[in-house]
Amino acid sequence: MSDLAERAAKLDAEDALAKVRDEFDLDPAVVYLDGNSLGAPPKRVAARVEHVVREQWGRRLIRSWPEGWWTAPERVGEKIAPLVGAAPGQVVVADSTSVNLFKALVAAVRMNPGRDEIVVDAATFPTDGYIAESAAELTGAVLRPVPPDALDEALSDRTAVVLLNHVDYRTGRLYDMAAATAKAHAAGAKIVWDLCHSVGVLPIELDALGVDLAVGCTYKFLNGGPGAPAFIYVPAALQESFRQPLSGWGGHRDPFAMEARYAPAPGIARARAGTPDILSLLALDAALDVWREVDLADVRAKGLALTGFFIECVDELTGDAVEVVTPRDHRRGHQVSLRHPDAEALVAELTAREVIGDYRAPDVLRFGFAPLYVRYQDAHQAATTLADLLATG
Ligand SMILES: Cc1ncc(COP(=O)(O)O)c(C=O)c1O
Repeated sequence: MSDLAERAAKLDAEDALAKVRDEFDLDPAVVYLDGNSLGAPPKRVAARVEHVVREQWGRRLIRSWPEGWWTAPERVGEKIAPLVGAAPGQVVVADSTSVNLFKALVAAVRMNPGRDEIVVDAATFPTDGYIAESAAELTGAVLRPVPPDALDEALSDRTAVVLLNHVDYRTGRLYDMAAATAKAHAAGAKIVWDLCHSVGVLPIELDALGVDLAVGCTYKFLNGGPGAPAFIYVPAALQESFRQPLSGWGGHRDPFAMEARYAPAPGIARARAGTPDILSLLALDAALDVWREVDLADVRAKGLALTGFFIECVDELTGDAVEVVTPRDHRRGHQVSLRHPDAEALVAELTAREVIGDYRAPDVLRFGFAPLYVRYQDAHQAATTLADLLATG
């Protein structure tokens, strides 16, 4: 056994989260390093979905709506709240991240009258930029794309809202939420955080940092399943002034009164729009129970250790054949991005060898390390397979 393989075995044996892996339905032949795109299924999800289909839908039929379906968005939101540092009543699960971004950005501009710029990370995940453009068009604001490191120069008394990604999807870089939030506030701007790549990765303190609005997806590190609905955070202090553009009946103060005019619900429910996606929502509900026995501080510690160990294996086994794009210090989420001109072909070859990461154009290989089910031996095997491919051309 090589030194690295021995270290991996030792680290796995000492891993406090090792037993959580048993909660997941994993193919033992596969090294799965794409939980930053689509998390693996917790075992309890299949039984729950079957129950929802056979019993709730099949037997209770429409009676299931008042028996818990209609209020599920808030109920499931309460399970996400502790993962993002939110007190109860401030997170609701609804729609997609893109849709929630639209609600959040338009609402934020409306909260800041007299200001007409939306500042957005120039290298953001595309949907954030596209949605920000549309939000700007609707509100008459101007879109200002800037690199997050240049936030200071971009902020002015024209800035209505800043939209940032907590972790950069391409490089895996983690941004300082406290510092950027404070800067936006010092300039009188609102801030919206996209937590897609950080929720379920590290403790997040939305309430404590005074974040204005946040959105995130649930199909990555929260393992809610393909297309699982997203969430939106609106702190209690801003709920009254949260005027979102998608004034559907789901966010109405009394949806079943069928009133002619829209009147928003008093609390977080006003962030809803239409009928909740019950099958996906309740699959997510079951998936979130995995977090009941897990401490986010342990998850963060293991995620840093896993990604650090993978970087070490890559350094040692591949020499300088690939460039590690992800920060080597702790300013990273739980993904490692490597740059190589043949990234696309390498990812395809790795997948053919049952090592699953993903490719982001033009030249990035991404590997996600979900600490709930990824082992150190997986990190070692992925680096070894990559090194073999590079060595054999
Ligand atoms: C940072 C970020 N925002 C948004 C999305 C996707 O949004 P949606 O769930 O609406 O497809 C992703 C998907 O990977 C993402 O990485």
